[in-house]
Amino acid sequence: MNKSYVIRAGHFTSAQKKAYDSLSGRYLIPYSEENLDFEKIFGNKNGVTLEIGFGSGFATAVIAGRNPDKNYLGIEVHRPGIGRLLWEMENSSLFNIRIVEYDAVFVIEKMIPPASLEAIHVFFPDPWPKKKHRKRRLMQRPFTESLAACLKPGGYLYMVTDWGDYALHALEELNAAGALINKYEGFASPQGWRPATRFEQKGLAKNHVIKELFFTRKI
Ligand SMILES: C[S@@+](CC[C@H](N)C(=O)[O-])C[C@H]1O[C@@H](n2cnc3c(N)ncnc32)[C@H](O)[C@@H]1O
Repeated sequence: MNKSYVIRAGHFTSAQKKAYDSLSGRYLIPYSEENLDFEKIFGNKNGVTLEIGFGSGFATAVIAGRNPDKNYLGIEVHRPGIGRLLWEMENSSLFNIRIVEYDAVFVIEKMIPPASLEAIHVFFPDPWPKKKHRKRRLMQRPFTESLAACLKPGGYLYMVTDWGDYALHALEELNAAGALINKYEGFASPQGWRPATRFEQKGLAKNHVIKELFFTRKI
C-alpha cells in the first residue's frame, strides 16, 4: 500500500521538544493493534471526536477548550506539531485531548472501535496534487468507508480543503460511502464554529477557495 503521508520537514523548536519529551508519556497513546477503550483513556464517558492530521493543533486546542465536556483524539505523524499541541495543552490546561503518533490509516483500521465516534474532523488534508500521487489521498475509498464505520449513527464527518480538485474528488468518494448522508446539496455551508487553521491561512494567502464537506452517518 502507498503511504498516505510524507513526514514534513520542520524545525523542532526547543519548547516543542521539551513538551514532547515531558508530556508524551501522559497524553500520547502508543499505536497498538487493539481497539481503544475511550472511557479508560479519558477517564470519563464523554463523546469522542477524532481529528486526522491536526498539524500544529491550533484549531484542535481551540475546539477542545470550548468543549470541555467532550473528548478529542488527534492523529498526527509530524512530531514538531505534536510537541506544539502538547505545549498548548499544558499551558491552557486542556485535559480532554489525547494523541496517537502514527499513520491514520492503521489507527482507524486497528484502534478505533466500530460506531464509537461522535465526529471526525479532517482539516486541510495533504492534497497530493500530482495526478500520479492521487491514490495517496486519504479521503477516498476504502478509507472513507472505514471512517464511516467508526462513526456512531448520527455522528458527522467534516472535511475542509482549499484544493478544488481534491474537494470534488472527496465529494464523489463520500457520496459513494453507503453509510453516509450529505447534510447539504454538494458542498457544505461554512461551519461558523470552526477556527481557522494554519494551512487554511496559507491557502487563503494564495487566493485558494475553501470548500467544506459535511456528512452524517445514517441512523
Ligand atoms: C496540510 S497539513 C494540515 C494540518 C492542519 N490540519 C491545518 O489545517 O493546519 C496535513 C497534516 O496531515 C498529516 N498527515 C498526513 N497524512 C497523515 C496520515 N496518514 N496519518 C496521520 N497524519 C497525517 C501531516 O503530517 C500534516 O500535518
